[in-house]
Amino acid sequence: MTALVPRHGFAPVESVARLVGGTPLVRLRRIGAELPGIRIYGKCEFANPGGSVKDRPALRMIESALADGRLGPGRTLVDSTSGNTGVAYAWICAALQIPCALVMPSNVSVARKLIVRAFGAEIIFSDPLEGSDGAIHKVRALVEAEPARWFYPDQYGNEENPLAHEHGTAVEIAEALEGRIAAFVAGIGTGGTVMGTSRGLRRLAPGVRCLAVEPAEPLHGLEGLKHMGSSIVPAIYREQELDGKISMPTSDGWEMAERLGREEGLRVGHSAGAAVAGALVVARRMAEADERGNVVTVLPDRADRYFEAPRWERRIAW
Ligand SMILES: Cc1ncc(COP(=O)(O)O)c(C=O)c1O
Repeated sequence: MTALVPRHGFAPVESVARLVGGTPLVRLRRIGAELPGIRIYGKCEFANPGGSVKDRPALRMIESALADGRLGPGRTLVDSTSGNTGVAYAWICAALQIPCALVMPSNVSVARKLIVRAFGAEIIFSDPLEGSDGAIHKVRALVEAEPARWFYPDQYGNEENPLAHEHGTAVEIAEALEGRIAAFVAGIGTGGTVMGTSRGLRRLAPGVRCLAVEPAEPLHGLEGLKHMGSSIVPAIYREQELDGKISMPTSDGWEMAERLGREEGLRVGHSAGAAVAGALVVARRMAEADERGNVVTVLPDRADRYFEAPRWERRIAW
């Protein structure tokens, strides 16, 4: 048996925050196997310490704010996210000993509240009837009322978000495949992953085609992804830079997530299912045009993030 070499080597690291990035790129062996000369690869972003792709931009936004003084003694990081970015802020703030407050509608799942509280983050509740927009309005009001108290990263408008992928995700993919990448496909949430990775790959893998995957329906079940037609378009998202967009029905994303579990041993979230389904659309188009090459996509998180957490409170008697 060959030795299993950890991706960061065997040397000790000084902080868990240093374990962000350097995620494995795994070849899908069955999905797309019928297409001659085409290989589909998934970048395993669930392997980040916080379990998702959002660790990269969260760390970069925090480190750049520490460097230029927007974050420092007496300031608390505050943002309005109950998703993967909230988990990323919470654990990174715990590791770096920065106070963290997350605004979320009071009806978010018990699991979400437990995860961020486990890292010591404070939760500020917003009106459940106003959903995520209500949480955004509330955080903006807090910051406006006391600007010196807070650091508000605002992942939708912060260019450090795509830069984390341009200088991280893209470089790692290009190195893994020695610059041989025919197409890159990723889902759109804030747009950070698809914009930043595409910019990096255009430099490192000339000729690459870069495409975004978007939910087909305004009300969809692909958590983490945004339907642009019915949403506020994030300031960091610039569609004109991309080579195209693939519209993905919820059912196709869910089915592919299940296939990835059964056929590849990858138990990933529904946005990863949608991303791989999008990569397969691109791979089939390439095969029809008699093209060959590597198609790369991103697997943002694991499916278990969406399962109800086991009871974790000390007061519960088993
Ligand atoms: C599960 C999941 N998938 C995909 C994305 C999209 O990533 P990005 O915000 O970089 O567009 C996110 C972002 O929050 C996410 O949580």
